[in-house]
Amino acid sequence: MANTDLNHLFSPYQLGELSLRNRMVMAPMTRSRAVEGNLAHPLAPTYYAQRASAGLIISEATQVSQQGVGYIRTPGIHSADQIAAWRRVTDAVHQAGGVIFAQLWHVGRISHPEFHGGELPVAPSALKGVGDVFIAGGRRVPVGVPRALRTDEMPDIVDQFRAAARNADLAGFDGVEIHGSSGYLLDQFLRDGSNIRTDQYGGSIPNRARLPLEVAAAVAAVLGARRVGYRVGPNLTLHGMHDSDPVATFTYLAAQLDKLGIAYLHVAEPVAGEEKLPATVEPVAPHLRRVFSGAIMLNGGYDAPLGEAAIKAGQADLIAYGVPFLANPDLPERLRRGAPLNTPDYPSFYQPGPDDAVGYIDYPFLPR
Ligand SMILES: Cc1cc2nc3c(=O)[nH]c(=O)nc-3n(C[C@H](O)[C@H](O)[C@H](O)COP(=O)(O)O)c2cc1C
Repeated sequence: MANTDLNHLFSPYQLGELSLRNRMVMAPMTRSRAVEGNLAHPLAPTYYAQRASAGLIISEATQVSQQGVGYIRTPGIHSADQIAAWRRVTDAVHQAGGVIFAQLWHVGRISHPEFHGGELPVAPSALKGVGDVFIAGGRRVPVGVPRALRTDEMPDIVDQFRAAARNADLAGFDGVEIHGSSGYLLDQFLRDGSNIRTDQYGGSIPNRARLPLEVAAAVAAVLGARRVGYRVGPNLTLHGMHDSDPVATFTYLAAQLDKLGIAYLHVAEPVAGEEKLPATVEPVAPHLRRVFSGAIMLNGGYDAPLGEAAIKAGQADLIAYGVPFLANPDLPERLRRGAPLNTPDYPSFYQPGPDDAVGYIDYPFLPR
């Protein structure tokens, strides 16, 4: 039976030049299945094309450079082979009528010397994050103290993102999302819990936002701002992140991103589930809505009624669904029909078993 209470979620949306068929976005999800050379898996075209009924797909986080690597079996977009592997994905998604952005990623301090020829991972400051990394042989080790980037290395970071944006274009992506959340490099610069620099990239909020904004400006210059999104997680504490004033910090960033005219701001601020923002923490998303005139995409714990309500109330234009899309390739159709959802198989999210396909491309579709 059709679910008639989801009119907002199912209405089309014009994102820059792109016509999205609905407001349901597949959130970026690392699946740890990339193959030798950090190439998207041969089954990735199938996996993403299966989910092409999303209004927009955002790819799993994809490294802009070798320096940006922090995990085994994650894809990059800085070599010709990587671009070719992604081209197979974008072709498959487009053939299935979908729209797909690449999420551009530099992990910063959430890494290990093993990925960097024995050199330390880089970060704004020599402050250790919290978390583990998987290295060769699947061994899990805690992250260590990184090396603080010199001021004269900053243009190179911007160049890494600029080149990755060009490569994303070559690979046939419709646009890119800059990964500015979850405790990775750009988030490490922005928040004062991880940035204690004394140069023009640390200290005041405008200084801490400088690198993220330089990156966004460079990427927008390559692709056109309307093909660029930026993801933030103002209250996410993942990887030991914190900030003394998230409302002020992220409102400043959002207002500056607005001046660049980027297409959307993706705000990961969970409203339900285990990660739900505690009642004592002030949500930042409403502040960002006020200063950012492009699309606001909300994420974290949304189901169909919550997503519908957020769009109806004017809090969001788009809703990103993570786990629901992972486990339900035909999520929009299931929501439309009010059909039950598949049960997510958590162990295979990031750790494939002997067969990469399991938990990847074998979630069933509804019978026709
Ligand atoms: C398996 C998995 C991998 C993820 N990888 C990424 C990632 O690569 N980039 C990112 O920004 N967020 C990543 N996330 C976070 C999701 O984008 C999303 O914020 C989270 O799943 C909450 O949304 P949900 O409640 O709809 O699942 C990942 C989440 C999961 C479950």
